Amino acid sequence: MSVAKKQYKRVTTKSVVEMKTNGEKISMLTAYDYTMAKIVDGAGIDVILVGDSASNVMAGHETTLPITLDQMIYHASSVIRAVKRALVVVDIPFGSYQSDPKEALRSAIRIMKESGGHAVKVEGGKEIKESIKRILNAGIPVMGHLGLTPQSIYKFGTYTVRAKEEEEAEKLKEDARMLEKAGCFAVVLEKVPAKLAKEVADILTIPVIGIGAGNGVDGQVLVTHDMLGMTHEFNPRFLRRYLNMYEEMTNAFEQYAADVKSVDFPNEKEQY
Ligand code: KIV
Repeated sequence: MSVAKKQYKRVTTKSVVEMKTNGEKISMLTAYDYTMAKIVDGAGIDVILVGDSASNVMAGHETTLPITLDQMIYHASSVIRAVKRALVVVDIPFGSYQSDPKEALRSAIRIMKESGGHAVKVEGGKEIKESIKRILNAGIPVMGHLGLTPQSIYKFGTYTVRAKEEEEAEKLKEDARMLEKAGCFAVVLEKVPAKLAKEVADILTIPVIGIGAGNGVDGQVLVTHDMLGMTHEFNPRFLRRYLNMYEEMTNAFEQYAADVKSVDFPNEKEQY
């Protein structure tokens, strides 16, 4: 089933742009630790995102805001040790790039140096243009992120679909053009109308990776724990669950507990 795997021994920022040019869709999933990253990479997923969604998924915070740069570097370095093929993109967390371009560059350099990540991702458009340029000027590849940008959740006040109105849609298109012009190698579009997302993908030559953005874009990203069904309280319309790991794992843990209690585990063959 691993179609792209044969073609690209190692996925680079250049290969994902090439995939768009060749009409090959890009697959992207999150990972925050060594074991998961090894499985995701081995399955031939093109891009692994060390997302700041680690703040929710790994640490149990309500938003992505609390995760720190040190914590992101820890997650990213664990992922990097596992990956042989995928391009690894690391989110710069909230509070580590918004204040000024120098801070943004310092944070991006720390991620690249200390984790070995291949690129960084930042949320936002023209408000952070100078920071993006500063990072790119240092030779660090940048992936943009527009639409629903969870680091700004307190500004939006809700996780509902973004850019449904003309004014916000126009700004999003302008921002997307700016990101491409500045030199970003790809853009994530989160929770925007499918028609708008397709329009943006058609305008840009760099790939647009969607999450809740329909199938007219150049690739898709999901949070791995969500698509595996490990989380079960989060049920947005865009999420397809490929497994029900919550149930599978619960059954396994219950069986283990029962086996321990009944002294069924360990048996003769499971001891020395
Ligand atoms: O942090 C994350 O997982 C993300 C994806 C939802 C795109 O930014």
